[in-house]
Amino acid sequence: MPLPPITPPLLNSANPWCTTLEQLQELYDSPHTGAITTRTSLLGGFAHDPSHHQFTFFNPSTHATSTPNKDVGGDASTTGSLNTLGYSPFPLSEYLEYVKTISEGMGDVPPNGRESYKLVVVSVTGSAEEIAQCYSLIATTQPNVKMPLAMEINLSCPNIPGKTPPAYNTAALREYLAALKVAIDVCLTKSGGVTQISVGIKIPPYTYSEQFEGLVGVLVESGQNVMKPVYLPTPVSFITAMGKVQQNPL
Ligand SMILES: Cc1cc2nc3c(=O)[nH]c(=O)nc-3n(C[C@H](O)[C@H](O)[C@H](O)COP(=O)(O)O)c2cc1C
Repeated sequence: MPLPPITPPLLNSANPWCTTLEQLQELYDSPHTGAITTRTSLLGGFAHDPSHHQFTFFNPSTHATSTPNKDVGGDASTTGSLNTLGYSPFPLSEYLEYVKTISEGMGDVPPNGRESYKLVVVSVTGSAEEIAQCYSLIATTQPNVKMPLAMEINLSCPNIPGKTPPAYNTAALREYLAALKVAIDVCLTKSGGVTQISVGIKIPPYTYSEQFEGLVGVLVESGQNVMKPVYLPTPVSFITAMGKVQQNPL
């Protein structure tokens, strides 16, 4: 399913500064965003352990660090960051309530002369079965809110001990896409063919060609008749990629 236009073409990525309703409302109201993303949530929330989950900012030129775990928004010198943060402590259901609250705060026409309501990208993670449930919850919320919703599956978090990012594993990726196709089919059937939301996958940095080829291979496969139900194309409408800055020593 195609994504609605993102105007202006700027949106935040999933991160700790889009955790609360207040932060999401501020991002939604900003004239500079054309869409917003929530921090990654799980069906049941994620236990935040302040002794493990920490962050600091640093100045990339001097390597001077800021006070750990203190937001330094507005300080242009500390543009680097180090973190061991996990997912949001709030469950997906809480984010869907935030989305409803933001929706209820708007009138029957998009605010500020906009042509359409801004897209909300709901970032989620979990097992393939849990992601299928996340899809169903988000799709069920869609008819009750004004803005279009999309689901972004975070397959790339490096900070969860014992959980290799599934985006580095072709077999795991295949499992997610297969579960998603079934979830999309179930929601389409239940809604009489009306409700389908766009789904994206967030991938980690890939550094060699086999990683790209593995991803493309599974995406192509997910649109072919080996993955049921065969009437549906690939469940993936968009890919969120993060950049890798490489300095050439020569
Ligand atoms: C402190 C911190 C927390 C993050 N948390 C999440 C998260 O919950 N979900 C997610 O998909 N990405 C998360 N990310 C990754 C960012 O969304 C983004 O993809 C990454 O930082 C690369 O973008 P950048 O080069 O602009 O920093 C996090 C990044 C940072 C620095």
